[in-house]
Amino acid sequence: VKSVDSSSSLLTLHESLVPLVDTHCHLDAHAFAGDLEVVMGRAAAAGVTQVIVPALDLDSAGTILNLAEEYEGLYVAVGVHPNSAAAWRDEWIDDLYALAAHPQVVAIGEIGLDYYWDKTPPATQHHAFARQLELAAKLGLPVIVHNRDAGADVLRLLAESPLAGTGRPGVLHSFSADWATAEKALDMGFYLGFTGPLTYKKADDLRAIAARAPLDRILVETDSPYLSPEPYRGRRNEPAHVRLVAERLAELRGLSLAQIGRATTDNAVRLFHLEE
Ligand code: NI
Repeated sequence: VKSVDSSSSLLTLHESLVPLVDTHCHLDAHAFAGDLEVVMGRAAAAGVTQVIVPALDLDSAGTILNLAEEYEGLYVAVGVHPNSAAAWRDEWIDDLYALAAHPQVVAIGEIGLDYYWDKTPPATQHHAFARQLELAAKLGLPVIVHNRDAGADVLRLLAESPLAGTGRPGVLHSFSADWATAEKALDMGFYLGFTGPLTYKKADDLRAIAARAPLDRILVETDSPYLSPEPYRGRRNEPAHVRLVAERLAELRGLSLAQIGRATTDNAVRLFHLEE
């Protein structure tokens, strides 16, 4: 196991850092093929000592489980993303079930609905999503939910799933819908994940939601290598930048970074049963 933070002098320096968890980053992406170790070092230097990497399909789940063997503090979600579900087969549930036995797997994801990209017919998306929600309930794992322009159907399928109302159903990742959607998800027990767009100039509606959501239901994410916060918008994102999301969230809620760090880390530990 590679320690991302092995130097004792660095450890001393880091004691003053607010610990943060990036609950959504795609570290298996090609964008990190050349320098993941350096990226993980920068994350640790920024206080980001735990990350959750969600799979997009079965292949990426395997790749990410290998990363979990290599890096301390790297947790995994296994699942099939709606944009990877065009060739969905119900046997994949058995494969996911087997993959989820790995001790670093803490969630089923990234699953959900995407009506923006036309990669998978809606009926197939609904079926794949519903089957994976059932799997999560059977395993007692939370889900990491992707929603792109599909809020009403996502809420309906979540409400119909056995996860609704359970203690830790999951997170609406990179939340980008309206307050009515947020409220319904919160009522079902879901958490809301906030990403780089919280820092974008035109995101006042999103900032209002992030300021209003209960403090014990919010998470900070990067969605690396996508969605870089300002001032890195348009460039490759990485887990260290979750600090910029947390800083903006703290400012919006009139809290210190330490308070937001504590709250979101506690939330991540509670939802995903991470090690404390
Ligand atoms: Ni993602």
